[in-house]
Parts: sequence; structure tokens; C-alpha cells
Amino acid sequence: MQNFYYDIPTKVFFGEGQIQNLPELVSEFGQRALLVYGGGSVKRSGLYDTIVSLLKEAGITTWDLAGVEPNPRLNTVCRGVQICRENQIDVVIPIGGGSTIDCAKAVAAGFYHEGSPWDLVLDNSLITKALPIITVLTLAATGSEMDGFAVINNEETSDKQEMCSILLYPKYSIMDPVNTFTVPKYQTAAGTADIMSHIFELYFDGTPGKYMQDRVMEGLLKTCIHFGPIACEKPDDYEARANLMWTSSWAINGFLACGLTSLWPVHAMEHQLSAVYDVTHGHGLAVLTPVWMRYILNDDNVDRFVNYGVNVFGISSDKKPYEIAELAIQKTEEVFEKMGLKLSMQDLGITDESHFESMAERAADGLDECQVPLDKDKIVEIYRKCMK
Ligand code: NZQ
Ligand code: ZN
Repeated sequence: MQNFYYDIPTKVFFGEGQIQNLPELVSEFGQRALLVYGGGSVKRSGLYDTIVSLLKEAGITTWDLAGVEPNPRLNTVCRGVQICRENQIDVVIPIGGGSTIDCAKAVAAGFYHEGSPWDLVLDNSLITKALPIITVLTLAATGSEMDGFAVINNEETSDKQEMCSILLYPKYSIMDPVNTFTVPKYQTAAGTADIMSHIFELYFDGTPGKYMQDRVMEGLLKTCIHFGPIACEKPDDYEARANLMWTSSWAINGFLACGLTSLWPVHAMEHQLSAVYDVTHGHGLAVLTPVWMRYILNDDNVDRFVNYGVNVFGISSDKKPYEIAELAIQKTEEVFEKMGLKLSMQDLGITDESHFESMAERAADGLDECQVPLDKDKIVEIYRKCMK
């Protein structure tokens, strides 16, 4: 394990009815709030009306940044920055999933930056200040409610990259599992695959001596494998939704990554898929993950796959290491398929390979440092293996 500094500044209000705390939390920062939300799910569920009336009663004035796209666009971020500047906004409140929260974070940091918010993606050191952010989470997936990342899609260059700063951690996150009851089966499955991928990125990271985190990660993976299919079949199962929601936060809030190299190769490859083809992030990860696992499996890491197979899926440790590893990868595929995710590029709507070279070139940045180094050609090979 390497040296690390550990700080998770987000305070969490978890459970049914916690939205009642929102007005008091907002008042800490001011009386003028920007509500950020997506394509309408929060209006259909009634959550938007609840929030507006709670804030109104407390004398807080609100403005709206509506229509944030899945894979949020830079243009929408710019629109949000403009609203904040024209109306002296004190606090930004995303109500939604990762796209909405990420957009809100970029708005919060973009508010203090003279040039394009994309500058902040290209150079994180330019993030010197951000408006306070209070999230109301509606989808268990990205963990953006408790981390310092914001992944933004630059529609002009078809690139998708993240900005990252301690200043982007939300001040507060309100996490009521009931607000995820309306998440459709497909997004529930994709969200669960995303949580699992965040854990895989760290579990198979290659840093030695992380015994403690490995055991925690196995517990979190078992939680996803158990509750993901339940939430897909029974969307209003509170225990399933609650366990997935809390796991989404702990998969990426920095705790598991303490002392690890943390290079995230599958995410680098997927972000190019969603940048160019606008695919659903978690589904893209589910397609790439088993192929990537088979690609990196070798004598140096087969023991990690054995631990994964034995401790997470209960495969007998009497079998040969490579047999356990292959069985564990097959079981991973089965989990995704059980939730209804189909596992080829074609199932993502990608039928041609014409962008693979340029996508791989962008994705490869820094991945030569992975335990199994990846370069442009290897990433193209992985993309091609996903065409089935
Ligand atoms: O737009 P609305 O109408 O709200 O519908 C959304 C959207 O269509 C819907 N949805 C969300 N909550 C709902 C709901 N529908 C019904 N009931 C609810 N309660 O779900 C759809 C997808 O929403 P989105 O926010 O895009 O999903 P997700 O949370 O998976 O976020 C994906 C984005 O986050 C980025 C991804 O790259 C992608 O852009 N990521 C962010 C990370 C971070 N900040 O740390 C890390 C992740 O690895 C990831 O890269
Ligand atoms: Zn992810």
C-alpha cells in the first residue's frame, strides 16, 4: 500500500424523508439556489414540486437549469454558468443521477473561471473555487454524490473527460432510496454495472498489500450481485435500493482507492464510447469488462482472479487457478445478463469500427502505467473483441 491523504468532506443525509432537511442546509450558504435536473423524471415523480415548495416556504428563491443530457454536454454547463452569473446564485442543487450532478459541479467551478469550463477539464489546477453543491440523488450508479469528479462531454470535439478537485465534493448529499424506485430496469442494471466497474478498477489495480480494501471490495461486489437483480425485478424494494445507493457512494468516494495506483483503464475506454456514440455509461462498461478481464489475465494477476472467484462467487478453491479465473469471468457476465444487459458492441448500437483508432488514441493516455500496460493498438484489439 502506498502513502495517502484521506478526506471525504461530503456530509450525507441518508434514508426516507431526509429531503425535509434541504431548506436548512441551503440556508447555510444563502437564499438563491440553482436547481439542476435532467429530462423530466424528477417532474414526473413529484420530487421537483416537493423541493420547490420546501424551499419556497423557507424563503429561498430558485432558478432552473433543466434538460441536462445523459453524458452531460459542455453547452449545458455554459448555460448554467450564465444563469448563475446573471442571478448571483449562492448554491447549486442537482436533483438526479450522475449526469445532472456532474453538470452541476462543472457549473459550480465554471462560475469562478473566466474562460470556457472545458479549460478546467484540461487543467484541473485552474479549479480554484466552486459554488457550494448540495445533491439530491435519484439514481445509484456513479457515486458523484460523494466524490470530486465531474465527467463532461465536449460535443464539438466528441471528447469526454473528467475534471477533478477536492472543491467539487458536494457539501451535502441527500440520499433517499425511495427516490430511486422510479429508475427503469435498464438504468438500474447499467447503474449496478457501473458500481461494480468502479470496484473492479481498484480490485484489479495491481498495487500489492491492499488486503483490507480487497475484503471490503468483495463485500461491496456481493452487495451489487445480490441486490442488483432484485432491484431490476422489484423496483420498490427499499432494502435493495438502499444497499445499492450506499454501495454506489462507497465504491468511489476515495476510501477504497487509498494507497492504490488507481488508473481506471475500463473507464478510460468507455468514456470514449459514450463520447462518440452517446451510449449509456454503465452498459458500455458491462460490454468492455469481461473482454478486458480476459485480456489482462496473466500469471502475475491470476491470484486476484482466484480471490475474486472464490470469495465473491464461492467457486471451489480446489480447482486450478486459470479455471477459477475463467469461471469468475463467466459469472460476471451472467450477473450482467441476469439484469438484462446484452454484452456486445452491437447491443450498444455500435456496428462499425471506423472510430476505434481515434478513440483508442485518446483512451490510451496514461494506461501504459497499468499492471498490464495498454496502448492504442491493444485498446483497438479490446474494442474489436467486443464486436460479437
Ligand atoms: O434525465 P432524466 O429525465 O432525469 O432521466 C434520467 C436519465 O435518462 C434517468 N433517471 C435518473 N433518475 C431517475 C431516472 N428515471 C426515473 N427515475 C429516476 N429516479 O436515468 C437516465 C440516466 O441518468 P444519468 O444521470 O445519465 O445516469 P448516471 O447516474 O449513470 O450518470 C452517468 C454519467 O455519469 C458519468 C458518466 O460518464 C455519465 O456521463 N460518471 C460520473 C462519475 C463521477 N462523477 O464520479 C464516475 C462515473 O464513472 C461516470 O463516468
Ligand atoms: Zn463509472
